[in-house]
Amino acid sequence: MTLQKIIKKHQTFLQKTPQIFFSPGRVNLIGEHIDYLGGNVFPTAISLGTYAFVTIREDREFHFLSDNFSQFAPKIVQADDLEYKEERNWANYPVGMLEAFAKRGVTYPFGLNVLIYGTLPNGAGLSSSASLEVLMGVVIETVYHHPIQRVELVQMAQRVENEYIGVHCGIMDQFAVGMGQNNHAIYLNTNTLEYKLVPLELQNDVIVIANTNKKRSLADSQYNQRRKECDIGLRIVQEHYPDISALCEVTSEQLERIQSSFDNHIIYRRVHHAVHEQQRTEEAVQALEKQDLMRFGELLNASHQSLRDDYEVSCRELDVMAQAFVDAGAKGARMTGAGFGGCVVAIVAKENVSAIIDTVQTTYQSNTTYQPAFYICETSDGTHEITKEVLV
Ligand code: GLA
Repeated sequence: MTLQKIIKKHQTFLQKTPQIFFSPGRVNLIGEHIDYLGGNVFPTAISLGTYAFVTIREDREFHFLSDNFSQFAPKIVQADDLEYKEERNWANYPVGMLEAFAKRGVTYPFGLNVLIYGTLPNGAGLSSSASLEVLMGVVIETVYHHPIQRVELVQMAQRVENEYIGVHCGIMDQFAVGMGQNNHAIYLNTNTLEYKLVPLELQNDVIVIANTNKKRSLADSQYNQRRKECDIGLRIVQEHYPDISALCEVTSEQLERIQSSFDNHIIYRRVHHAVHEQQRTEEAVQALEKQDLMRFGELLNASHQSLRDDYEVSCRELDVMAQAFVDAGAKGARMTGAGFGGCVVAIVAKENVSAIIDTVQTTYQSNTTYQPAFYICETSDGTHEITKEVLV
């Protein structure tokens, strides 16, 4: 649907001509499950994302409506009642951002109508929640004239996810969404927040995002569980190397030397994933910079195996999908995001894209009970207001 059509459809809700904002989703190319271990990650912002259509109200109420769930009545929130409430459901994400800005002194002399329209498939691991959080942050900073450094806004959104929503995610998603740049991936050191924008020049290849359509229902509890296991792992490491403050600082040689200290094999495998994923990510960025897409693809495959066997965050559908891509001739494929469902990311030669997707679709459908969906990845700039010039 075009943006103009959406505005027309929700005229009664919006009342006036809205300001429009867009926030991308993200796909992580490599560096999975290490953004909370001080690791380096390599995501890119994508053109699928979340739009906000915003008009000012005369009272101090916030009305939130989602075009994706427009069967439901708008969620109405008073400017002085911003704490988390279960029944607010998805609106807790934008309300969490309102609360975070209130803590910085924004007083909301007037309220807003906020219509949300998302093009990201739900529960697909493409960061619809980070997209919505940063989106609302940019809406607030713009409408209430409260400018904030983008990195600070990104950190604020992560805090909302951690403390207000209760998912103990790392910084990767909010960072990719807020700091993304068209045609680039972000090589981010999650320890220092130093980053480098790396041009995504794939020449004869494209990035395919394949949605298993298996919703990642278990993800949040297992996610927090992995974090706990890694904390245990870090304590064991620190008995030998007291100067190490995050698992991704450990080298593979250091880990090998202390392997026998891990009575619990599961904890060892979690640490093994972290240490080696960190190395793969560094190598993958170098491979991409050298245009060595074959090597980049191999590293993607190795990452998938490690997430499947050592970190145990894959699932049958993701394994079938990733393997189907490799068997059909992709240079590499891996699960992306938190796992337990969601999407696979694959590097595929442009000239074979449709043939490969057809083959993968057939293999996937005959081996699972889900209908997959495929997108050729287009990159995007980070969260921004859409000006009138862009609209016409
Ligand atoms: C989710 C989290 C991120 C990151 C990934 C796994 O998307 O929100 O912080 O940990 O999982 O890499």
